[in-house]
Amino acid sequence: MASVRLVALKAPYVPSSLRNLSNFLLLRTHAFTVRDFSTAMSPPSTAVIYDQYGPPDSVTRIVEFSPVELKETDVCVKMLAAPINPSDINRIEGVYPVRPQLPSVGGYEGVGEVHSLGSSVKDFSPGDWVIPSPPTSGTWQTYVVKDQSVWHKIDKGTPIEYAASITVNPLTALKMLEDFASLKAGDAIVQNGATSIVGQCIIQLARNQGIHSINIIRDRAGSDEVKEKLTKLGANQVFTESQLEVKNVKALLADDIPEPALGFNCVGGNAASLVLKFLRQGGTMVTYGGMSKKPITVSTSSFIFKDLSLRGFWLQQWMTSDKAKECRKMIDYLLSLVREGKLTYEMELTPFSDFHAAMDKALGKLGSQPKQVIKF
Ligand SMILES: NC(=O)c1ccc[n+]([C@@H]2O[C@H](COP(=O)([O-])OP(=O)(O)OC[C@H]3O[C@@H](n4cnc5c(N)ncnc54)[C@H](OP(=O)(O)O)[C@@H]3O)[C@@H](O)[C@H]2O)c1
Repeated sequence: MASVRLVALKAPYVPSSLRNLSNFLLLRTHAFTVRDFSTAMSPPSTAVIYDQYGPPDSVTRIVEFSPVELKETDVCVKMLAAPINPSDINRIEGVYPVRPQLPSVGGYEGVGEVHSLGSSVKDFSPGDWVIPSPPTSGTWQTYVVKDQSVWHKIDKGTPIEYAASITVNPLTALKMLEDFASLKAGDAIVQNGATSIVGQCIIQLARNQGIHSINIIRDRAGSDEVKEKLTKLGANQVFTESQLEVKNVKALLADDIPEPALGFNCVGGNAASLVLKFLRQGGTMVTYGGMSKKPITVSTSSFIFKDLSLRGFWLQQWMTSDKAKECRKMIDYLLSLVREGKLTYEMELTPFSDFHAAMDKALGKLGSQPKQVIKF
């Protein structure tokens, strides 16, 4: 703790009761205050904040926060990496069902290294790698101070970009494969948005269980290359949307692939209709995202003659506090798959200093790009 206290001696004092962001911002203008030297303090933190909802490329800015005092059960974590997910963008836009209180620090998941501990923390040591689990708002900053109950220790042998991004998307893929149908080896699933991280995870988790995947991607220049990449991950069939402009999409199914009972939709619009067309009698389509921002249209005959079911999935809803244990077990399983080379997905690590360039890529300004993960 000695080095932390040294920092604290020189730093402005911020009482723990004033830890919320608006108070930080106010305190940044206050004079230094005398304090108790025995209290552990965090280092100052550099953070991406937004004080109004709107386009993330214009409402986010980088600020410096004063050190904060660690309460007895707090853990101060030096962040190593955190991804930019579509839901982070939606939160900043103010269109997510849970609207963060403003001003707010961006980010929801990530990985960091334990820097210092409150006086009664026993289960962590400086240097441990931890992730917030379930995730928690405010990971886009260099130091995060939260109660010990927030943090889950993970194996340091995990590449940081995977440790940072293991919850929101891979866990969604795993949970959705388990929750909506009892699939067995030889069965098939169909999905759109197959290039997304969730999509790439669904392909691999299905393959690991002997389940076939039928994948739909947007038309683009270089679609053959994308198809090849997904096939290498274990995709059985990959179609562009335009390839599916045929009367009977099921005629395109390979001989060894049965009609799927389960479909996943993260796009909406025509891409959702294509998932429905592949489903077998009594099949289910689970919607978990709406990347095209277009509504889903379902034909009357899909209900009457195919008796299809439409369901939805929201990870944040499931990860309520009583699910923390289950959630952490699943995370450990997913991280072990990563370390064994059985789960991989495309990401780009971008230095924190280039945050706005990473955000532009995440916003799709440069066309389809790998998942952006900020490296602190
Ligand atoms: N419900 C939940 O609990 C939950 C949890 C996790 C994720 N999600 C949702 O799952 C989806 C995928 O997330 P992710 O982080 O895995 O994605 P990602 O890796 O950031 O990739 C974005 C995906 O969206 C596609 N896309 C982007 N703009 C599009 C548009 N205008 N029309 C159609 N497709 C578009 C991209 O396709 P291209 O390759 O063609 O660019 C790519 O497949 C998002 O909607 C996210 O909000 C939901």
